[in-house]
This record gives sequence, structure tokens and C-alpha cells, in this order.
Amino acid sequence: MTAPLLASHPVVPVVVIDDADQAVPLGEALLAGGIAVMEVTLRTAAGLEGIRRLGALGGMTVGAGSVLVPGQVDEVLTAGAAFVVSPGLNADVVRRCQELGVPALPGISSSSDLMAAVALGLREVKFFPAGLLGGPAMIKALAAPFGGMTFMPSGGVTLANLGEYLALPQVPAVSGSWMVDLALVRAGRWDEITRLAAEAVAAARAAVS
Ligand code: 3PG
Repeated sequence: MTAPLLASHPVVPVVVIDDADQAVPLGEALLAGGIAVMEVTLRTAAGLEGIRRLGALGGMTVGAGSVLVPGQVDEVLTAGAAFVVSPGLNADVVRRCQELGVPALPGISSSSDLMAAVALGLREVKFFPAGLLGGPAMIKALAAPFGGMTFMPSGGVTLANLGEYLALPQVPAVSGSWMVDLALVRAGRWDEITRLAAEAVAAARAAVS
């Protein structure tokens, strides 16, 4: 994911769907709430087909999440993914993204991971699982020797704490699942998802203003 993409999408929902039919109404609900980016994970069999169907939804940037092996990079790109997120850093996954010209956002959890990210030429990483690793204070400490690196924290980010992350200059965006809870998705509670999305966007704006 390029810096401008993160900078223009401060809240990145981590989406799990268990039926591909959920993808487009969910995307519409997020757009109505002011969120124009989605990371659709491959944690369920419906994820890949969901990415494919979201291609029909104008204005939504759709990425793939939970990409673990290089072969999945090819699959998600064929399905239409615009960026690739992984929970950890696998050099082969990143290199495959680079070969195919798609932004990669691997997860890091240590300074050694960051050194590997630097060696791969990356400037942006996911920080996962952010809450358990020490939250904003850990990002601040990790970032110090890695000038120019930016972080998208995920894992334990909520409406209540997103402002603490976004207050850091190294954090242009946060990511999480709280506004796309699978129970809401299954129940088709699209209005509630729109409300949660709008609330998240407002909190993100307030944090950086
Ligand atoms: C992720 O893959 O980034 C996390 O599963 C999102 O974490 P959350 O469910 O705590 O928001």
C-alpha cells in the first residue's frame, strides 16, 4: 500500500465474511459511512469471491488480508485486489507483490521484522497485534531507529483508542474489525455498520485536527 493510500484512508476495516453475498452490501454500508477502503481477509472461503464481487462497487478500494503465501498474491490480484496485507512478514509474499506491482503491507512485531522490511524496500507496514505488543508506546519506540517508516496498527484498535495511535506522526491509518463485526454482517445490519463507520471516520478526523 502506498503512502497516499494510507494517508487518504485513515480507517481500514478488516473484513471477515462467511458468504460472498455479504460483500457488496457491506461495501455499500461502509461507503455510506465515509470509508472507501476494505481489507477483505482470506480467513474464510468467501473472502476471495467477495473481493471479486466488490470490483463492481465504484469508489471502493479493495485489498486482500491474511495473505500468507506467494500463490495467494496471484489469486487475489486476479480477483481484483488493489493491495495485499499479511499478518507477518514473509519475504516471498512481499517479493511476489513487488513483481506484480501491487502494494504489500506485511505485519511486523519487532525491530528485526522492521530490518527485514527495510531490506525489502518497504516504507509502510502493519503493526500486529498492536494492543498486545504495547500499543502506541511500542510504535514510538520501534519507529525511532527507522526514520521514514510508517505503521498501520491493527489488533485491539477500537473507537476508544484509535486517536492515541493516529496522534503519532508515523501512523497515517489504523485498522480493525470493530465496525464490521461478523454478527452485524450476518444479521444484515447495514445501517449500524454505516453508523459505526461514520463514527470511526469522525474520531479519526478529530484525532488529527
Ligand atoms: C487483523 O487481522 O488486523 C486483526 O484481526 C484485526 O484485529 P481486531 O479484530 O482486534 O480489530
